[in-house]
Amino acid sequence: MKKDKPSATAEANAAFRAAELLRPKNEQVCEDRFAKRFIGLRFGIIARSRLLTSIALWYAERIIPGAANSVVARTRYIDDYLKQCIDGGIEQLVILGAGYDSRAYRFDELKPKVRVFEVDHPNTQRAKIQKVKKIFGSLPSHVTYVGLDLDRRKLGEGLLESGYDKTKKTLFIWEGVTVYLIPEAVDETLAFVAGNSGKGSCIIFDYAFQSAFDAATENGDAKKWREAYERRGEPPKFALKEDGVEEFLSKRGFYQVESVSMESLKKAYFKGPNAKRKVTNLGGVVHATVARKE
Ligand SMILES: C[S@@+](CC[C@H](N)C(=O)[O-])C[C@H]1O[C@@H](n2cnc3c(N)ncnc32)[C@H](O)[C@@H]1O
Repeated sequence: MKKDKPSATAEANAAFRAAELLRPKNEQVCEDRFAKRFIGLRFGIIARSRLLTSIALWYAERIIPGAANSVVARTRYIDDYLKQCIDGGIEQLVILGAGYDSRAYRFDELKPKVRVFEVDHPNTQRAKIQKVKKIFGSLPSHVTYVGLDLDRRKLGEGLLESGYDKTKKTLFIWEGVTVYLIPEAVDETLAFVAGNSGKGSCIIFDYAFQSAFDAATENGDAKKWREAYERRGEPPKFALKEDGVEEFLSKRGFYQVESVSMESLKKAYFKGPNAKRKVTNLGGVVHATVARKE
C-alpha cells in the first residue's frame, strides 16, 4: 500500500463489483448494490456508463487477464458461505482487510443479531468511514471499526480492545488480503482465530498459488499479475502450495478444510452467456472450521 494512502486495490475491487451490476441480470455473478457508492470520482464516472465500463474492463484485462471476473467470483463464493454461516448461527463477523466490503450493510440479517468488526489498515479505514457516513448518514450501530496495521500490530490486540468476544461463534472473512501480508502476519492471524474464538467458529479467505510466485513459472498471466501488484506499491508476499492448503491449515488448528480453485468457481458461476469470461487461475478460496481440543 502506498504511504499514507488508502489501498488502491480495495477501490479497484469495489469498482469491479460495481461494474458487475451494469451487466444484464442473468449475467451478474455477484450483487453488491453499494459498491458504486464506495468508489471515488474516477471510477465513479466510469461506472455510470456501460461503454466506459467496457473500455475500463478491457484495459484491466490487459493488465491482469481475468482479474475482474476472479474478484466477483470470490465475492459471490464468500457471500454464499456467509449466508450459510448466518443460518448456522454465527454471533460475530470479523472482516479482515475489509476495504470497501459492503457485507455489513448489504446483509440485513446481520443487523439484529451479529456484531460486525471491520478490521483494516488505518489509511484505508479512514476513507471507508467517511464514505459510510456519506452513504448512510451515520455509522451503523452493529459495526465496530478496528484500524490496525497487521504487519505491525497483532490482530488480537486491536480486536479484544474493541469489544470482540472470544467465546462467541464467529466467522472471519479475509478477502483479497493474505497475498499482501508477510507470512508471519498470516500465521499470527490464524493463531488468533484458532485460539480465540467460540465453538464452531470458522474462516474463509482467498490465497495465491505458490506457483504464481515462482520465478520459474514464466506463465505470462502470473508474470503480468506480479508486475501489476508491484507497480501499485502492493507487492505480493504470501502464497500457498495448491496441494498443501489442508495440511497448512490443519497444522494451525483448523479442520473441515474446503478449498476451491478459481477455475472451479468459473465452472460454477460462468455459464451460458458468461462462459467466455476468463478468471485468473492463480489462486483459490478456502474455508475451514476451528478445531477444538476438548
Ligand atoms: C485488495 S484489498 C481487499 C479489500 C476487500 N477485502 C475486498 O476484497 O474488496 C486489500 C485490503 O487489505 C488491507 N491491508 C493491506 N495491508 C494491510 C495491513 N498490513 N494491515 C491491515 N490491512 C491491510 C488494505 O487496506 C485493503 O483494504
